[in-house]
Amino acid sequence: VRRVEGKVAFITGAARGQGRSHAVRLANEGADIIAMDRLANVDSVAYSMATMEDMEETVALVRKAGRRVVARTGDVRRQEDLDEAVREGLGEFGHIDVVCANAGISSFGAVYELSEDQWIDVIDTNLNGVWRTIKAVAPSMIGYGKGGSIIITSSIAAFKGSPNSSHYAASKAGLIGLMHSAANGLAPHNIRVNTLHPTGVATEMIQSPASLKRFCPNVESPSLTDLRGAFSNANSLDIPWLEPEDVSDAVLWLASDEAKYVTGIALPIDAGALNKG
Ligand SMILES: NC(=O)c1ccc[n+]([C@@H]2O[C@H](COP(=O)([O-])OP(=O)(O)OC[C@H]3O[C@@H](n4cnc5c(N)ncnc54)[C@H](O)[C@@H]3O)[C@@H](O)[C@H]2O)c1
Repeated sequence: VRRVEGKVAFITGAARGQGRSHAVRLANEGADIIAMDRLANVDSVAYSMATMEDMEETVALVRKAGRRVVARTGDVRRQEDLDEAVREGLGEFGHIDVVCANAGISSFGAVYELSEDQWIDVIDTNLNGVWRTIKAVAPSMIGYGKGGSIIITSSIAAFKGSPNSSHYAASKAGLIGLMHSAANGLAPHNIRVNTLHPTGVATEMIQSPASLKRFCPNVESPSLTDLRGAFSNANSLDIPWLEPEDVSDAVLWLASDEAKYVTGIALPIDAGALNKG
């Protein structure tokens, strides 16, 4: 038996990276997918966001896995975009059982040098966007009455000082308070809420040309090899970063009934980075 057979998963930031990987993994295990992504750049972010072609690839991969998919362009900074995606998904599938609140952005600057736009865009996407996602999905999940699993992508940055990423760390730490509270509030409805805390993951967020320059400031034209050096130091296991599929393993577990009594936890998937200090 497939592990999420017949369930429906709503995924934000689904066009590429970890969001796409979660969509494909959950589809391979029997879930239909509602995929949403902004598909347009953010002025305060140095790397590009996903494109329509990226989303088409996610859609094709879900279909290839034999599942149905509703894909929408939408911004987690706008409640009406989330509500509309949920409405369309419910129209197609009738229920939502699994939520991956995955959309997120990063930018860089010393705490006293970040622009107001940088601060607000990161908090509004990474933290407020997850709250809006829960607000959009919870009523239908409660109404359906069969419980569910809300999986929030935080980061190890929630637990560590990040001198050039205080807004990102604040957004990801804020998600823990949101998760604890939502887990208690939704437990009577058998809806579980947990956060995942990955170490570096091989996606555009860290591997785009603009990100490479940020993470390797002393290298003229940094390559993935330079980045590998910078990231390997963070982990205690001997890997530079996770692949998106490694995070999808944890998503699948939390989405499945194998995790039916797991709620209110902050789960690191970090190759030992937090324990290393
Ligand atoms: N890559 C890492 O090293 C790493 C580590 C820990 C946690 N994370 C977190 O993982 C999550 C997924 O990121 P990723 O690594 O796949 O990077 P990514 O940049 O490849 O994916 C993020 C996706 O979110 C979309 N998006 C951005 N802003 C949006 C908005 N306002 N509304 C809707 N969609 C939006 C982007 O278009 C993109 O498709 C993020 O929350 C990120 O903070 C990443």
